[in-house]
Amino acid sequence: METRTYKIGIIGSGDMGCQLGRLWSKAGYEVMFSSRNPESLQSLIDDLKDAQVGAVEDTIDFADIIILAINYGTLEQVIQKLDGKQKIIIDLTNPVYWTANKTLAKVNLNGKSAGEELQSRLPRATVIKAFSSHYAASLQEGHSDYPIAVFYTTDDTANTKLVEALITSIGFAPIYYGELNRSLDIELYGKYSNKIMSKEEAIATLVQ
Ligand SMILES: NC(=O)c1ccc[n+]([C@@H]2O[C@H](COP(=O)([O-])OP(=O)(O)OC[C@H]3O[C@@H](n4cnc5c(N)ncnc54)[C@H](OP(=O)(O)O)[C@@H]3O)[C@@H](O)[C@H]2O)c1
Repeated sequence: METRTYKIGIIGSGDMGCQLGRLWSKAGYEVMFSSRNPESLQSLIDDLKDAQVGAVEDTIDFADIIILAINYGTLEQVIQKLDGKQKIIIDLTNPVYWTANKTLAKVNLNGKSAGEELQSRLPRATVIKAFSSHYAASLQEGHSDYPIAVFYTTDDTANTKLVEALITSIGFAPIYYGELNRSLDIELYGKYSNKIMSKEEAIATLVQ
């Protein structure tokens, strides 16, 4: 499936957003990175073809597909900007925050995954949960022997071909894991947290 006509907007150009945006840009997609300090991304933009930087609002307007790569504590502000928009959103966020003791603590979503919560807040959007349990460093390094398996969840299976083409285009092996209510497994602290597996190894875990 040719998906390079879809424009990608990276909301949150930190460790994960920059890494994934760089990969999609190098794979031939037009990418806009959001930043509240655009000059901080100038060297990244200079290094890429057809990449630009903009405010969060510009990036949302620009993109067909949004990569949501912000920390959970800032999500509410971005949800307000996405409210009512009919976008495809690939959601990387994990519902965690840093405590005063510099440890990570979970946000209480009453047993719901962050993916489900986001879809319920943005009913006009199509939310896809993916990449949440992969460390940014592992995306950068890839794997020398095989494409790393990336599980994803969504309630809207009409877009699975598009999502799989996107994930494949940057060298990973996508596997549909089910609806968003199964996302806890593929978010941080889920059973696949930072598991580096080939597609075959990942599929084998589904029947265990
Ligand atoms: N790091 C990982 O290995 C990893 C792995 C899997 C999933 N994740 C998840 O991915 C998300 C991002 O993690 P990260 O480590 O990439 O975070 P990060 O390096 O801290 O980057 C987050 C970015 O969000 C932007 N930002 C901050 N406040 C914002 C606001 N109010 N509106 C819009 N943008 C804002 C900042 O960009 P500007 O200051 O330039 O605006 C910042 O660069 C988290 O939910 C995390 O759980 C991370």
